[in-house]
Amino acid sequence: MLGHLLHLAGIDSVIVENRSEEHVVERVRAGVLEQGTVDLMRDAGVDERLRREGMRHEGIHVRFAGQRHRVHMAEFTGGRAITIYGQNEVVKDLIAARRTTGRPLYFEASEVSVDDLDTGSPRLRFVHAGDRHDIRCAFIAGCDGFHGVCRQSIPPSHVAVYEREYPFAWLGILAQAAPASDELVYSLSERGFALFSMRSTTVTRLYLQCAPDEDLNEWSDDRIWSELVARLRTDDGWQPNVGAIVQKGVTPMRSFVVEPMHYGRLFLAGDAAHIVPPTGAKGLNLAMADVRRLSTALQAFFATGREAELDEYSARGARRTWRAQRFSWWMTSMLHKQEGDNPFDYRRQLAELDYLVSSTAAMTSLSENYVGTPFD
Ligand code: PHB
Repeated sequence: MLGHLLHLAGIDSVIVENRSEEHVVERVRAGVLEQGTVDLMRDAGVDERLRREGMRHEGIHVRFAGQRHRVHMAEFTGGRAITIYGQNEVVKDLIAARRTTGRPLYFEASEVSVDDLDTGSPRLRFVHAGDRHDIRCAFIAGCDGFHGVCRQSIPPSHVAVYEREYPFAWLGILAQAAPASDELVYSLSERGFALFSMRSTTVTRLYLQCAPDEDLNEWSDDRIWSELVARLRTDDGWQPNVGAIVQKGVTPMRSFVVEPMHYGRLFLAGDAAHIVPPTGAKGLNLAMADVRRLSTALQAFFATGREAELDEYSARGARRTWRAQRFSWWMTSMLHKQEGDNPFDYRRQLAELDYLVSSTAAMTSLSENYVGTPFD
């Protein structure tokens, strides 16, 4: 997205990815786009398929004690909504947009390194298809994820790291089954958390809380379905439709923030700078907010030499990130069972959920955080 926004402003960029195109396009990730992300896709002219295939949802369901409760988010946010569209579909659309610009995009790059970050011309080196590339840049954007080289290239004394790991993970599946609900269902049950989501009118996406080191081999399809149904079904007989499981995986849960989000002429964006647990569906959306802010700041710099926006990039990002961290942590702790919890904790969680779905103030707070504040 950053490459495309810079292209629209007439600014050159080189995109270097160490995975294959097939990997990034097929790897199933989250699928909730905030209103701000949808607006950005539209403004960047890359929403043609999103408009056709994205599923706009004005509400979500919260399930506990055998009941589903709908929170009509649009009603509490002046009409804002979320759109269900797989993150890998967004990636597919952005790769296609990049291709039409003819600007460089390298997959399967290796030996990637970034140097001279605190100079006016940082250096990017990598190997692609046997050729060594050595590029002097005006800036480097570290959009290379949590495990990427960019953040790790910042001298540790220049950054502060804030981190929390959770004692559980999500087992996620993609199933060939028509969604049994029009909208997402977040559930707390005595057996732990479960989430009902979807990708299309024929594909359901579901998750259940599991151990961080969960062994997928111990999860037959039958066991997955019986656990999902037990955690999601409601007293009125609603339950997800069962179908062939076409993909399964375990997602670890972590909260992570690095500050500041830049060092010299290296600017971090997305998971390179922050990780949120998936419960609030904020990961991709935070990354989109980052690159929009970064592209605006770079445009100001190249147009006028002004550095004020670049100087503010990190502080403005940190504010949004911490808000998302707070929200994701809250959603996670409200909806998961933790080792050491006793019946008091479960009743407290039920009381919190009951308050959430019966108070206008609480539903407004959930809604405005979930649909996301406008990108600044
Ligand atoms: C998804 O559809 O993959 C999804 C939805 C909501 C979440 C996380 C993931 O909070």
